[in-house]
Amino acid sequence: MKPLFKGKHFITLEDWKRDEIDTLLKVSKELKTKFYNNEETDYLKNKTSFLMFFEQSTRTRNSMEAGIAQLGGHANFLDTSTMQISHGESAKDTAVILSSYGHGIACRNCFWEIGNKFLNDMAKHSTVPIMNLQCDLYHPMQGLADLMTIQEYHPDTSHLKVSIIWAYATSHKKPISVPLTQILLFPRYGMDVTLAYPEGYDLPDWAIAQAKQHAKDHNGSFRITHNMEEAYTDADIVIPKNWGSWVNNQSNEVVDDLLESYKSWKCTEEMMALAKPTVHYMHALPADRGNEVEDSVIDGPHSIVYPEAENRLHTAKAVMVMTMGDK
Ligand code: CP
Repeated sequence: MKPLFKGKHFITLEDWKRDEIDTLLKVSKELKTKFYNNEETDYLKNKTSFLMFFEQSTRTRNSMEAGIAQLGGHANFLDTSTMQISHGESAKDTAVILSSYGHGIACRNCFWEIGNKFLNDMAKHSTVPIMNLQCDLYHPMQGLADLMTIQEYHPDTSHLKVSIIWAYATSHKKPISVPLTQILLFPRYGMDVTLAYPEGYDLPDWAIAQAKQHAKDHNGSFRITHNMEEAYTDADIVIPKNWGSWVNNQSNEVVDDLLESYKSWKCTEEMMALAKPTVHYMHALPADRGNEVEDSVIDGPHSIVYPEAENRLHTAKAVMVMTMGDK
């Protein structure tokens, strides 16, 4: 399999054209079929990727580690608290050194107004592709897996009614990168996207403007509502998920009066009943069960969270195969 995007950084899908994303999806499907058929896929034989994590992860770390092993390569997992970064070593020096040891550098850094800058600083100095495993602004690996999952259930995404809905959670102050990636990506596939959130949980103005532009360019639509019920009504797909009030309030505090005033923003069976009977429930996971969503919904017949999570493996492999080639 030829690395068609050899060396291309994967920091945001905004840097990837529609046909390039389509190629990643096609390769993801091929790799999924080969995985099910237990076929050899050693396209990255003897290649090394470095996985730098500033934060915890289940899906992202394991889809990348298992993924490169299945591709014949090897991942070095790097907890950044044990790297010299924690003593202040720069993104530049880290990227130059790791590039000289391997074939790809992947990093999760979600610190507000730091993470994306850190990835771009590495990209400036790396001779191998930089892969974003989630930053303060983007989660392109999740976006790609979400799109693959949506297409599996709805091969024609034109005017598919997709609602991205804020939900109450107390587990931690979550990044805005999942909903931000989704509002930028889904309108490029002609979907009718609704973003619903209570006052105070805005996404950046530039992202909203870009989502509207993508909708215009690709015959989709994009709208914002502060009415939760309206977002569920007649939806084909609902994605209720918490995100922090980073744009309006940069405090790291998880629970505050604003959050507590929106406890009712939960995905319940009552809300799901407003959507189309065929509606699908999606969530990037981990879900804050009982707060974001009722167990009966996430474990119920409309939920496709496990196929969505599984697709993280196939899409991660596609990104690695297509960007990490022979040096
Ligand atoms: N969805 C996602 O990125 O999961 P992890 O935080 O477990 O990697």
